[in-house]
Amino acid sequence: MKKQILIVEDERVSAEDIKMSLQRLGYSASGMAVSGEEAIRKAEEMRPDLVLMDIVLKGEMDGIEAASAISSRLDIPVVYLTAYADKKMLERAKVTEPFGYILKPFEDKELRSILEIALYKHRMERKLKKTQQELIQSEKLAALGRFSSGIAHEIKNPLGIILGGSEFLEMKLSKVDSEVKTAINKIKESTFRANTIVQDLLKFSRPSALKTERINPNDLIRETLSLFKYRIPLIEIKIKTHFAREKMYLEVDKNQMQQVFFNLLMNAIEAMPKGGAITIKTYKMAPSESSLADKLCVIEVADTGEGISPKDLQRIFEPFFTTKRERKGTGLGLSMTKMIVNSHKGDLAIESKPGKGTTAKIVLPFH
Ligand SMILES: Nc1ncnc2c1ncn2[C@@H]1O[C@H](COP(=O)(O)OP(=O)(O)OP(=O)(O)O)[C@@H](O)[C@H]1O
Ligand SMILES: [Mg+2]
Repeated sequence: MKKQILIVEDERVSAEDIKMSLQRLGYSASGMAVSGEEAIRKAEEMRPDLVLMDIVLKGEMDGIEAASAISSRLDIPVVYLTAYADKKMLERAKVTEPFGYILKPFEDKELRSILEIALYKHRMERKLKKTQQELIQSEKLAALGRFSSGIAHEIKNPLGIILGGSEFLEMKLSKVDSEVKTAINKIKESTFRANTIVQDLLKFSRPSALKTERINPNDLIRETLSLFKYRIPLIEIKIKTHFAREKMYLEVDKNQMQQVFFNLLMNAIEAMPKGGAITIKTYKMAPSESSLADKLCVIEVADTGEGISPKDLQRIFEPFFTTKRERKGTGLGLSMTKMIVNSHKGDLAIESKPGKGTTAKIVLPFH
């Protein structure tokens, strides 16, 4: 697809010239702005791949101020295009970390190389930021793992005592008074619930070593679904599958991957209290230039449920983030799922449209 460029230039003739150069070079000059304010507004609306910005503009705001707002708020790279370049201006421009600087008049060749370098540099920076965030996230998870395993162990013993004590009381007292019996049952139920959380925490904090085997993703899903049938009442929830025809073999830990699908299916079901459909797809995808894998297998689990708000979507992979307080979610499902997929050198992404549904997409390398 052609790269979209927004031109910010307050002189018409100049703007038309730039537009023609861009078109000759195979870019799409998809918008023009004549002032800093308009540049910010159009960048926000159009989300171009790059902004070509004149520095001296009519109006309140000059190009440097507009560029600073665009690059910090919208993460869109800016290249300055200007006829003036005194030292003071260069100093000011530098602070906004532009991806390039072109002096007018310019030649097509020069414009192309500066734009290509800027686009490439921006792509790499984004990738680096993503890797950094993943690293921070995984360190946070590791620290949290150590912390939760400590707490889980501490809580296990008192829970055992509470359970033992309530069973003893039940034996002694429940025949006497049915209200006591109800109270004791509530204590036991809550203790079991706390125990499940402790077990989850321990599982989360001690991810076991991978015991991998060669397995076809379609078979893996079929098997998980057959296990699933007995656990959940699937009333009014339709499960559809679209399996890839070509043979793919993954090298994965079957138990752990079943846990992954189990968590995703549970989330899908919990998002559709009034029923709906789950569609599971598997397909082969060509790897991107930067990927080390030979081939990639994609597995999608899509539901037609309530969806996730953009605000929540930023937090769903955080351990203990849950919106299911009343339904007693622990909020470990997705963070555990992501950790397992990552430990298989794969990636998990979740897209959602509130009110329409959610799609979880797993990408795993296969050979
Ligand atoms: N398919 C989905 N549809 C709508 N919301 C979802 C979906 N999957 C996840 N979420 C949102 O993400 C949150 C975190 O999910 P996660 O699986 O980590 O925890 P949980 O389901 O709340 O609890 P647990 O999985 O530990 O029982 C959920 O509380 C929910 O708000
Ligand atoms: Mg869950």
